[in-house]
Amino acid sequence: MTLEYLSGFGNEFASEALPGALPVGQNSPQKAPYGLYTELFSGTAFTMARSEARRTWLYRIQPSANHPAFAKLERQLAGGPLGAVTPNRLRWNPLDMPSEPTDFIDGLVAMVANSASEKPSGISIHHYRANRSMERVFFNADGEWLIVPEHGRLRLVTELGVLEVEPLEIVVLPRGLKFRVELLDAQARGYIAENHGAPLRLPDLGPIGSNGLANPRDFLSPVAHYEDLRQPTTLVQKFLGELWACELDHSPLNVVAWHGNNVPYKYDLRRFNTIGTVSFDHPDPSIFTVLTSPTSVHGLANLDFVIFPPRWMVAENTFRPPWFHRNLMNEYMGLIQGAYDAKAEGFLPGGASLHSCMSAHGPDGETCTKAINVELAPHKIDNTMAFMFETSQVLRPTRFALDCPQLQPAYDACWASLPVTFNPNRR
Ligand SMILES: [Fe+2]
Repeated sequence: MTLEYLSGFGNEFASEALPGALPVGQNSPQKAPYGLYTELFSGTAFTMARSEARRTWLYRIQPSANHPAFAKLERQLAGGPLGAVTPNRLRWNPLDMPSEPTDFIDGLVAMVANSASEKPSGISIHHYRANRSMERVFFNADGEWLIVPEHGRLRLVTELGVLEVEPLEIVVLPRGLKFRVELLDAQARGYIAENHGAPLRLPDLGPIGSNGLANPRDFLSPVAHYEDLRQPTTLVQKFLGELWACELDHSPLNVVAWHGNNVPYKYDLRRFNTIGTVSFDHPDPSIFTVLTSPTSVHGLANLDFVIFPPRWMVAENTFRPPWFHRNLMNEYMGLIQGAYDAKAEGFLPGGASLHSCMSAHGPDGETCTKAINVELAPHKIDNTMAFMFETSQVLRPTRFALDCPQLQPAYDACWASLPVTFNPNRR
């Protein structure tokens, strides 16, 4: 089935699954068309600047308010609670696929976080593994979700319509949006950045101009699609990090028409217009930013989503891998496919690394030695897609992340083989 999408970023979209289901000229008429209920779905405070406000008007078979009390689930999110703070550089092998039947929610594992969920800033990072489709419906009251599939295609049936994504695509789900994740392959695995702060947006382009990096028209939102199902459905929510559930007698994915800009969207990372040097050196990795969640401090991100896609390396007389560096920002990296150009081995698709504030890192010994001695010519880095969730507050690993067998015990050793090449007598 080919899905229809609406193209653009931050647009005021309108979509109706039945002709004339959207009221004309007002948001909340006394009687909405087709006997639908009107509901406002706000992703930002009412009083935000107009350019930052996110909200969508929903016209649905039953309002969301029609639900019984939620009860705390016995099976909670795997991975928590947070463990000890460590300044050490950490790296993980990919988590195993589940051996038991596991849906997207049961397969979530909390890895790191820098904020309690009730704070209006910070991020939490989860990995997911699943081998069966959800039958229940879920929403996350704690933040927006940026899902980065690494293995297996997903079909996301949301209140606002259906999106399908595959590895090398990402999907962003607004805080509170109800959805069900169905698997289009036997297994699925990937990463989630949960953004507790300002909703993700496109970065400003400065002197780059009015085009480049991720272009707005490549962001795709679904069209209205509803389920008129009067059957028992479990609705799960994550609220302050805990899972709660209630039983409905209908599907809550029952929005027949909607208009607004608080919408889910997907983006194909292969469409990223990568910009780099054509002379020497290379720009800061912020040049690879796909989406950003700003803080109130200008230029300081709550979350930057940055990718390292296939690209030509042409810089003359330049150490081409990422330079050695120590940053204010905290970097959680993952790999979707292939290899990452700064590491010869040990960083695998589905794996992850954490380099916290001021922790020193850069290419490993093998990559560095090769880069210093290689004869420079235009060279294409291909078959790769690494990414980074970068955040301004220190990320604290969960106890699971610190205790799991996937944590590599000797990550520091990859820099131990850097030779001393200093010779005061030879410039
Ligand atoms: Fe870094």
